[in-house]
Amino acid sequence: MLDLKRQHEAIHGELLEAVKHVLETQQFILGERVAAFEKAAAEHLGVVHSVGCSSGTDALWLALVAAGIGPGTSVVTTPFSFFASVSAILRAGATAVLADIEPVSFNLSPAAVEAVLDGPRGRGVRALLPVHLYGQCAEWSAFARLGRERGLTLIEDAAQAWGAEWQGGKAGGLGDAAAFSFYPTKNLSAAGDAGMVATRSDALAERARALRQHGMRRRYFHDEVGWNARMDGFQGAILLVKLKYVEKWNEGRRRLAERYHALFAKAGLVETGPYPQHGVVLPRELAGRRHVWHQYAIRVERRDALREFLAGRRIGSEIFYPVPLHLQEALKGLEYVEGDFPEAERAAREVLALPIFPELREDEQETVVAVIAEFLS
Ligand SMILES: Cc1ncc(COP(=O)(O)O)c(C=O)c1O
Repeated sequence: MLDLKRQHEAIHGELLEAVKHVLETQQFILGERVAAFEKAAAEHLGVVHSVGCSSGTDALWLALVAAGIGPGTSVVTTPFSFFASVSAILRAGATAVLADIEPVSFNLSPAAVEAVLDGPRGRGVRALLPVHLYGQCAEWSAFARLGRERGLTLIEDAAQAWGAEWQGGKAGGLGDAAAFSFYPTKNLSAAGDAGMVATRSDALAERARALRQHGMRRRYFHDEVGWNARMDGFQGAILLVKLKYVEKWNEGRRRLAERYHALFAKAGLVETGPYPQHGVVLPRELAGRRHVWHQYAIRVERRDALREFLAGRRIGSEIFYPVPLHLQEALKGLEYVEGDFPEAERAAREVLALPIFPELREDEQETVVAVIAEFLS
């Protein structure tokens, strides 16, 4: 599914140099390389501030709390995401409200959000948290309009979307604040856990910086209860190296996605969708967006059987995500039931992510498609 060694081999000299520098300077927590990464990352995204932190989960929590989200407020997000999109809202002390997704993009549906805002759970909603799932931006114009009309804060979960664009604007610079994850599988990845908050707001950045150090602005004077959510020096140094390559890697992912499209078409397997019948519904880059293909998720009918068939041929695949968040045991307290979000529930039954990473070889891609063709025949 993902061979991280291939990326490492290409740049391991530079990475070792970066790690050595941290050992020599002994700046293990935050420090010079983290600061240099924060500056370079903010320039890359076209935002003013970036605040390095310990994970994407913490970045979400920091962004929410720094934006004033807490007890007595609600935040709307998607049921079809990684658990952290909802758990960070709960950690902030707020209420998580969910709205269904769109079947083609798998992203939060603006129409569904609007209906929720007008319904009983809409009272108390102060923020929207769309997720740019699989590397493609959510329908941002509609969320920006909702934000303006209803005075809502917009926070992007950009964990999967480094380099993605919406009408020329980069993910991470679209909302009031954004959270990135540099988990090792991400398009821009650390060698461990790391994350980042991006924002144009001076006040939000300043508060996030304090919150990541237990609410300290002056050493051992705590203005509010924060948490330990700092980025470590090794991760900052490694990310600073990888930042130089991430555009090239994203271009590689885009070429691979095009190639998958072509191979599936040539094999005669493509269905128009949005739901599969006997073939494969391919993921699509929608108008006005730059998809960075964190995942290439197809939809198929007998998904679990196909996954087993692929595994039998030693081909990795993954289900992001098999259980929508409203049906997770830990989130029973949100008081949703099966049937509440039919699109998310259906996607959870049908999606299958295929191998896509910049160093994936053409012959490997051909094998993946050939084995799927064999299964479907
Ligand atoms: C959409 C989404 N949100 C949040 C996170 C949390 O990031 P992390 O694993 O770095 O805490 C992830 C990554 O795992 C993610 O994919």
